[in-house]
Amino acid sequence: MALRTALPFAAFAAAAFACTDILLPLYVYPGGAGSATPDWQAAVDAIKSNPETHFYVIINPNDGPLGTSDPTGNNGGYCNAGPDGIPHGCNRDWTTHLGAINALPNAQTLGYVYTSYGNTSGRSTADVEGDVLEWSQWDTAPTWAAGATANISIYGIFFDEVSSSASSAPFYRDLATYANQTFDAKSPADRGLYSVFMNPGTNPDRDFEAALFNMSSAVVTQEACFTTRPSSDCPLPYTPFNSQSLAPGNGLPYDLDLLGQSSILVHGFADPGGATVATLCKQIEGVISLGVHSTYFTTGGWNTTTSTPATIGMVAHLISEKNNVRSCPSGCYA
Ligand SMILES: *[C@@H]1O[C@H](CO)[C@@H](O)[C@H](O)[C@H]1NC(C)=O
Ligand SMILES: *[C@@H]1O[C@H](CO)[C@@H](O)[C@H](O)[C@H]1NC(C)=O
Ligand SMILES: *[C@@H]1O[C@H](CO)[C@@H](O)[C@H](O)[C@H]1NC(C)=O
Ligand SMILES: *[C@@H]1O[C@H](CO)[C@@H](O)[C@H](O)[C@H]1NC(C)=O
Repeated sequence: MALRTALPFAAFAAAAFACTDILLPLYVYPGGAGSATPDWQAAVDAIKSNPETHFYVIINPNDGPLGTSDPTGNNGGYCNAGPDGIPHGCNRDWTTHLGAINALPNAQTLGYVYTSYGNTSGRSTADVEGDVLEWSQWDTAPTWAAGATANISIYGIFFDEVSSSASSAPFYRDLATYANQTFDAKSPADRGLYSVFMNPGTNPDRDFEAALFNMSSAVVTQEACFTTRPSSDCPLPYTPFNSQSLAPGNGLPYDLDLLGQSSILVHGFADPGGATVATLCKQIEGVISLGVHSTYFTTGGWNTTTSTPATIGMVAHLISEKNNVRSCPSGCYA
């Protein structure tokens, strides 16, 4: 297993072993004045219950922060900056519950930005950069609590719909450079808590791999579906996810030195396909034993965290347990 970080101080020796972090696409409406929605609350609870595990939490109101309000959106958008006078942070529902996540020391929020596979006629560079700039401007904002403000800062960007072709290298290098400079200009002191993820959802082409990893903190080299039943969420053609099948060029980088920057996302952890807690444990164990940067499993799509068996509580528990395998070499949880 590759060491991801080599911290020079003996006092931090335990932290020098590579741990797999959680990359959580939290494409969920946060909830109203009184309380968070169950799916959002489950995420907060899991972050709190696993304090030794780092959570990258992707915030996605409506396919990005600048999308107009879309009450019918699958992602439960409602990112409306207008009526309650919140210039950044959509509205008080978002500021209140985002503030609760930012208050947790092991959570790092990332802003969602889609890039239409580098096809600028699908999405202009100005729109993509506009999203990045908007995310960088989330700072503090009023919440539902009278007179209170919350820290709604975003600590990096999750670029989605990333091209896997080397011909897109200049586009993404410019974008990563823009994001880095924009966030650096915002808060140089916070740069320790700043990451750029690229999500091609599959292996970047071999001749793009070195460059894409070099411009990113981490790259999602596989975003896969577990169940064997195709649906709109798991459209054909696909091969159901199995951690045993991961190999260089098939979900893992060709250059295995890059494993520690590689991320694996699995949705549709449902039947048919043998979706039990025991299988989930085996699959998570298989991913973690590779020493990848981060992972996440979910039973539905990215808009639910509470469907069994791969609830966020169970997934976070299993990932934390498997990260600790040296001190706790028990078999799989069942
Ligand atoms: C969740 O997203 C899927 C598509 O990924 C959609 O079919 C479903 O209706 C969504 N559910 C909710 C509650 O928004
Ligand atoms: C906001 O919260 C983050 C932790 O998520 C912290 O690193 C940062 O310093 C906080 N910023 C302010 C202005 O409190
Ligand atoms: C990696 O990025 C640095 C700048 O951040 C650049 O100098 C270097 O040439 C890049 N290497 C590769 C393999 O792309
Ligand atoms: C952007 O910042 C990330 C995180 O610090 C770094 O890994 C990456 O190499 C940078 N990309 C460029 C193009 O400078």
